[in-house]
Amino acid sequence: MQTKIIKINPIGEEDAWLDEAAALIRSGSLVAFPTETVYGLGADAMDPLAAKKIYAAKGRPSDNPLIVHIARLSELEAAATDIPARAFKLAEAFWPGPLTLILRKNRRVPRETTGGLDTVAVRMPSHLVAQKLITGSGRLIAAPSANASGRPSPTEASHVAQDLDGRIPLILDGGTVGIGVESTILDLTEGTPVLLRPGYITRKMLEDCLGEPVRTDPGSLSAASPTPPKAPGMKYRHYAPNAELILVDGEPGRVAEEINRLVHTAQQDGKKAGVIAAEETKALYRADYVACIGPRQDEDAIAGHLYKTLRELDAQAVDIIYSECYHTPRLGETIMNRLRKAAGYHIIYV
Ligand code: TXA
Ligand code: MG
Repeated sequence: MQTKIIKINPIGEEDAWLDEAAALIRSGSLVAFPTETVYGLGADAMDPLAAKKIYAAKGRPSDNPLIVHIARLSELEAAATDIPARAFKLAEAFWPGPLTLILRKNRRVPRETTGGLDTVAVRMPSHLVAQKLITGSGRLIAAPSANASGRPSPTEASHVAQDLDGRIPLILDGGTVGIGVESTILDLTEGTPVLLRPGYITRKMLEDCLGEPVRTDPGSLSAASPTPPKAPGMKYRHYAPNAELILVDGEPGRVAEEINRLVHTAQQDGKKAGVIAAEETKALYRADYVACIGPRQDEDAIAGHLYKTLRELDAQAVDIIYSECYHTPRLGETIMNRLRKAAGYHIIYV
């Protein structure tokens, strides 16, 4: 299959791309599109065969459910049922935006979309292209991140093409996304709200809005947890580069010393070694390739560059990557969640 890439100006009033993209969605085909978090791989959420095409294109395990994207609050009831008051409170505060809610599913949503579950993940993206695609196609759009399963999520159209070229008919290129890490996922199907995946909407923002505590899914914290994560996707090695990734955590000077020692040892074993470092510390490293993730002072930049940096190191064909840790005030929980998973929880404390 030939993959067409259309460059779009989201604020242009001429939406020449929309007819073509909407027709593909309506015919049960796939379209990759930008959202404010990462690029999504979209299909008609109510069409079981279209959902199956998503799993096939990504090489995604079929028990890993998709997020249903809506453009208006009135569409929420087409996806979900028994919607609690909390959901409307959160929707009012954070939609459109990077928050996904787990709710009881409407009977009309096929199990192919929800990975066999009775619950459904719903979010209303704020990106104009995503909104126009949903509204223009007249469908709710099921979309996972538009990467090959297990690979870092795409923050640019070129990343989608790297993973899915020849496997999907259309990529809408809306440039680099704004946030760069996937939406926060909050489960509202239990007595108390449970955070399944941290994201740009922080726990504190959720708690302030709801006026009650938000629990963390214990299964999402480590590979060694006795309970599996409640978001099936969080159990797979994820967001990962091709090379082995190891995190080194501690005081920055000691981290640099330890990473340089590890790089040296790896190189003596004939390995090509890469490092992920902040702007402020990158000059401390001696490695085959040092990728700068952004200034420590700018956590939005670090979150935004995370996946691109992992892809950049893959392009350098390094065998092993050592990374600093970024426990930044607001997005640290999210950044470290993705880094830990990408590293398969391999962390060295110094
Ligand atoms: O920002 C985002 O959320 C992006 C953009 C494209 O919207 N999408 C995204 O989708 O990250 P994906 O498929 O890469 O991640 C969806 C996560 C998976 O971990 C999946 O297991 C979880 O959501 N999920 C979906 N439905 C669920 C459900 N009913 N219960 C628990 N977890 C669910
Ligand atoms: Mg994903």
